[in-house]
Amino acid sequence: MAKLFAGVGTSHVPGIGAAVDHKKTQEPYWKPLFDGYEPAREWMRREKPDVVIIVYNDHASAFSLELIPTFAMGVAGQFQPADEGYGPRQVPVVEGHPELAWHICESLIMDEFDMTMANEMPVDHGLTVPLSIMCGEPEAWPCKVIPLAVNVIQYPQPRGSRCYALGKAIRKAVESFDKDIKVAIWGTGGMSHQLQGERAGLVNEPFDTAFLNDLTADRQRLINIGHTEYMRESGSEGAELVMWLIMLGAMDEDAREIYRHYHVPASNTAAGLIILENG
Ligand code: DHB
Ligand code: FE
Repeated sequence: MAKLFAGVGTSHVPGIGAAVDHKKTQEPYWKPLFDGYEPAREWMRREKPDVVIIVYNDHASAFSLELIPTFAMGVAGQFQPADEGYGPRQVPVVEGHPELAWHICESLIMDEFDMTMANEMPVDHGLTVPLSIMCGEPEAWPCKVIPLAVNVIQYPQPRGSRCYALGKAIRKAVESFDKDIKVAIWGTGGMSHQLQGERAGLVNEPFDTAFLNDLTADRQRLINIGHTEYMRESGSEGAELVMWLIMLGAMDEDAREIYRHYHVPASNTAAGLIILENG
């Protein structure tokens, strides 16, 4: 049977992708951030997941205000990098896993999570930047990817507790798939950041550190954080962290922290990364 063995939480700041694409990772501004990614890349090379479920938000690239799915799973064989205004990133095409993706959708819908299925979904920085962070610049991405797009752009947004419950249901779905494959789940976005308004540039390091700690120390506290608290403490875009709770829902209560990296600033954002493994 398939095994969901690991979870990763990581920021998906577009500037990190631009630094990779424009060969700036060794410049003084970016080097400390990328040095901290190296152990995560080593982990990825060592563990070789067959499939990664990447939980991310679409930033008005595949969807717009005309259509706002709360949870959309990509069931296609391929996903093209999106054009976000500067042409698509020159990164490999993202290969999907339709058989597992449809299996997960069926299991989730039977468990009363009313998923949207996407047969065509260009993927933006929310998904491709985490791949660059974890995999560097390969000719082809080293794993299949199942994109799971979550609406954290337009209110009303799903609560953290709902995201966590979805993660639990994803674990059950994956582990009822009848093939011996290694599956990981990545929650992306965050950490604290606000891109607009009076508090643009807000970073709250104590909030982020407590969030990273409580992924293993007190998950109930994280599950109960509401959007008002995310807004107040971590900025309007800090609420992207609910997507990490989908990852957390798929992890054992006693999942182990394997690695973490936290660095400010990356663009206007506090960049965090954590790797958790199930027992
Ligand atoms: C930025 C955009 C994001 O989607 C994000 O999560 C972090 C930062 C940005 O434009 O800097
Ligand atoms: Fe974002």
